[in-house]
Amino acid sequence: MTSFVVVANRLPVDASPGGLVSALQPIARSSGGAWVGWAGEPDDRPEPFEHEGVRIHPVELSGDDVDRYYEGQSNSTIWPLFHDSVEPPVHRRAWRVAYEQVNRRFAEAAAAASAQGATVWVHDYQLLLVPGMLRELRPDLRIGFFLHIPFPPVELFMQLPRRAEFLRGMLGADLVGFQQTLAAQNFLRLTAQLLGLHPEGERVEYEGRTVTARAFPISIDVAEIETLAADPAVQDDARRLRKDLGGDRRLLLLGVDRLDYTKGIDQRIEAYGELLADGTITNDEAVLVQVATPSRMRVEQYRQLRERVEREVGRINGEFGDVGRVPLHYLFQTRTRAELVALYLAADIMLVTPLRDGMNLVAKEYVAARRDEGGALVLSEFTGAHSELSEASGGAFSVNPYDVDDLKRGIAAAIAAGPADLAGRMRRMREQVLAHDVDRWARAFLETLG
Ligand code: ADP
Ligand code: G6P
Repeated sequence: MTSFVVVANRLPVDASPGGLVSALQPIARSSGGAWVGWAGEPDDRPEPFEHEGVRIHPVELSGDDVDRYYEGQSNSTIWPLFHDSVEPPVHRRAWRVAYEQVNRRFAEAAAAASAQGATVWVHDYQLLLVPGMLRELRPDLRIGFFLHIPFPPVELFMQLPRRAEFLRGMLGADLVGFQQTLAAQNFLRLTAQLLGLHPEGERVEYEGRTVTARAFPISIDVAEIETLAADPAVQDDARRLRKDLGGDRRLLLLGVDRLDYTKGIDQRIEAYGELLADGTITNDEAVLVQVATPSRMRVEQYRQLRERVEREVGRINGEFGDVGRVPLHYLFQTRTRAELVALYLAADIMLVTPLRDGMNLVAKEYVAARRDEGGALVLSEFTGAHSELSEASGGAFSVNPYDVDDLKRGIAAAIAAGPADLAGRMRRMREQVLAHDVDRWARAFLETLG
C-alpha cells in the first residue's frame, strides 16, 4: 500500500502514446508511488509489478468491457461529446452499465492500493465516476481528479444521459482540475443547474465537503525534450531527414498526431492541397510530413477518418507529385520520442490544427525542441495550448481550422515570415513553455489538493 496513487485508464507501460501518459510518466517516476490502470489488452491481468520505480497495479478488462466501456461509452459517447460533438456522440444503455461496472473495479483497485490517508489522483474522462465511488469506499483519502480533455459547454453536457451521476462522480474529489478556466466554470455552473448546489468563486459545498474546481494547464517534460534536441545523434537524424526530403531548398511542414477526428488532420491536408492547387506553394519547394499514430482503430469514426485521410493523401500525391518527389508523406506509425524530436528539429513549420483539443502537447514539444529558435508554429485557436502560445502573445500563427481559407492564410503567413520575426516568436513561446513544465503543473495541483 502506498501514500500516492495515480489512477488512469492507461498504464505507463504499453506502447500506445497519448498526452496523458506522456505527461504523467515523469511525475509518477519521481514520486515513487503506485499506478492503477489497464494493461491495454483484453482479458490480461498481470500481477502487480515494479516499472521504473512505480508500483503497477493492472486492472483487467474483458473483451466486452473493451467494447462497451472503452470503445463505447468512453470513446464513442464521452470523447466526441466533450470535444464539441465534432462527430455525433452515440448513446447506448449497455455501454453506460459497463462504464459504471468498470469504474467500480478501478475504484476498488485504487482503494486496495492506498495506505491510510493516502493521496489518490484520478485521471480523465474514462473514469468520471471513480472519485465518488472511491470516497464511499475510503472516506479517509485525499482525492484529486484531473480532466485532460475539454469540459463541454453546459448545453452540450446536458445531452449526456445520466448527466447528474457523472457530475456527482466528479464531485467525489476534493479538487477537480481542468485544462482551462472556462471548463472549470462550466462544471461549477452545472453543479448549480443540475444539482441545485451553490458554487461561490471556484468552490462548491457538496455533502458536507468543499470541492474546488480550477484550471491547471498541463505541460511537458521540458528537460527530456531539450536533452533529446541537444543529442548529436538526434541532430544528425534531423539533417538526414531534410536531405532525404530534398535538401535545404525544400520547405518542410510537419503534422504529428494520434489519428483522431478532433485533430483536424483532414482539414489541414485539404488546406495544403489547395495551396498546391492555387500555386502558392509547389511540389519542388514544399513537402508535408504527416505522422499519424494508429489510435482506437476498432471505433467506426476512426476507421472512417483513416479512409478519408488516406484517400486525400493519394489524391494530392497523384495530382501534384512527380517520380521520386511527392508533396505529402503520410506515416501511419508510432515513432520513438527521439525520432519525433528529430522531426521537430527538421521542420520549418509545425501544423497543430485541432478542431478541439484540451491542451495539445505536440505544440509544446515542438517549442521545447527548438533550442535554435528556428521554426514556426501554426496553431488552432481551439486548443488549450493556444491560451499560452497565441498570436496575440506574439508566438504562434493562430488559425481557425474550420475555415480552410484561414488555415491557408496562416500557413502562408508562416511561410512568408522573416527570420527575425520567427526567432522572436519562438523565443517568446519558449519562455512560456520552459517556465511552465509538467513538474510545476503536478506540484501546483498536488499542493492545492493539500
Ligand atoms: P493526445 O493526448 O490527444 O494524444 P497530445 O498532443 O496532447 O494529444 O499528446 C500526444 C502525445 O503523444 C505527445 O506526447 C506526442 O509526442 C505523442 N505522439 C503523438 N503522435 C505520435 C507518434 N506518431 N509517435 C509517437 N508518439 C506520438
Ligand atoms: C488522450 C486522452 C488520454 C488517452 C490518450 C490516448 O490523451 O486524454 O486519456 O490515454 O488520448 O488514447 P487511448 O485511447 O489510446 O488511451
